[in-house]
Order: sequence, then C-alpha cells, then structure tokens
Amino acid sequence: MPIIAPSLLSADFLHLKEAGDLINRSEAAWLHLDVMDGRFVPNISFGLPVIAAMRKATNKVCDVHLMIEEPEKYAQAFKDAGADILTVHAEACQHLHRNLQQIRSLGMKSGVALNPHTPISSIEEVLDEADLVCIMTVNPGFGGQKFIYSMLKKIEKLKESILKQGTNTMIEVDGGVTLENASAIVKAGADVLVAGNTVFNAKDPELTIRLLKNMV
Ligand code: DX5
Ligand code: ZN
Repeated sequence: MPIIAPSLLSADFLHLKEAGDLINRSEAAWLHLDVMDGRFVPNISFGLPVIAAMRKATNKVCDVHLMIEEPEKYAQAFKDAGADILTVHAEACQHLHRNLQQIRSLGMKSGVALNPHTPISSIEEVLDEADLVCIMTVNPGFGGQKFIYSMLKKIEKLKESILKQGTNTMIEVDGGVTLENASAIVKAGADVLVAGNTVFNAKDPELTIRLLKNMV
C-alpha cells in the first residue's frame, strides 16, 4: 500500500487549521508542503512561517518539497520550522551530493526531485545519499495539472536502479495523481503518492485518501 501525501498547495488557505485537522483524521501518513520561489518555478507559494504553523497543526510527517534556487542556504531554517523530509531539485543544486549530506546531517530525511526532462542517470551516483527520489509527473509550479504518462517508464527505471544498488530509497510521485491513474503508478514502483487537487477538491477528501491508499 502506498503512503499518501496530500499536498497543501490545493487546500483552502483561509482554513489551514481545518486542512491539518482533515489530514490528522485521515489515513494519510504524510503532509506534502510545496515551497516555490518564483525563480526555480514560475510561481510563488508559501514559505517557512506556513511550514512552522502546519508543524503545530499535525503530527504527520512533514514532507517539504523545495522548488527553490540555492536550497542549501535554507536547509537549517526548514529543519527549525519542522520539516521531517527535505527534498531539493537536482536541477537547482550545483553540489547535489553535498546538499543531500547536509540535509541528513541536520537530522532530516533527504530527498531529490527530478523534473520530467531530467534523466534518472543524473542521480544514480547519489542514490545512496537519498532517502527519497521524487519523480515529477508534471512540470513543477502549479497544482491541478495533467499527469505525464511517459513518466511511468521513468518510475520503473528508477525502481530497477534502486533494486540494483540495494539502497532503501523511496520513490515519490508528484503531479496529476488521480483515482484513475494511481494504480498504474503504484504498479510502476511508487511508494508515495502526492495528491493535491484530487484530495482537496474531492467531495469527500478522507474517503479519497483511503481509496488512494488502497490502490494496488
Ligand atoms: C507541483 C507540486 C505538487 C502539486 C501537486 O509543482 O510539486 O506537489 O501540489 O498537485 P496536483 O496533485 O494537483 O497535481
Ligand atoms: Zn510537490
């Protein structure tokens, strides 16, 4: 069964406490928090104060996805705000190996995200340093986009690489996850499903989380 990580980006920002309560009641084990800087991606979302507030609102794993340039400058600050997992983009890191080590040394799980065009080969040498690889299945920056189906092969390829190297790296899939495609994504090898629009715009978000979790 996959871990479900609802993405706060699609929540009602006027009612973040309710979003936290919903996650707490639900079978989601993680809360996915998207930080955008308007430079790495063409959008600005939220930052440290919102993460710190959500940290108080939930005991679930805070899975922070940094879509920002120079993420190494802020790793300590996100640790202090309450991040359990900190994911940086391979494309935003000049020294990815060092950045992943930095995240672990601060006491967080390390994650690396790949844009749709970035090949698995760009991170094969650092798999050992990554607790999680996030395969972007949309171009990052916005919620509610369409899943890019050619990414299913990429997920399979990453799974093979992890098995071959024998690391404990988890595969997270982020972007356009729906009740319709979740099963194929899990079959391809995903351990964690991020879902923004599918959860927060559902009639019954808790039920939707349960259905996503029971995908085989
Ligand atoms: C996109 C973000 C995603 C986004 C997913 O740049 O990284 O986490 O919130 O939203 P949906 O599930 O609506 O595609
Ligand atoms: Zn994300």
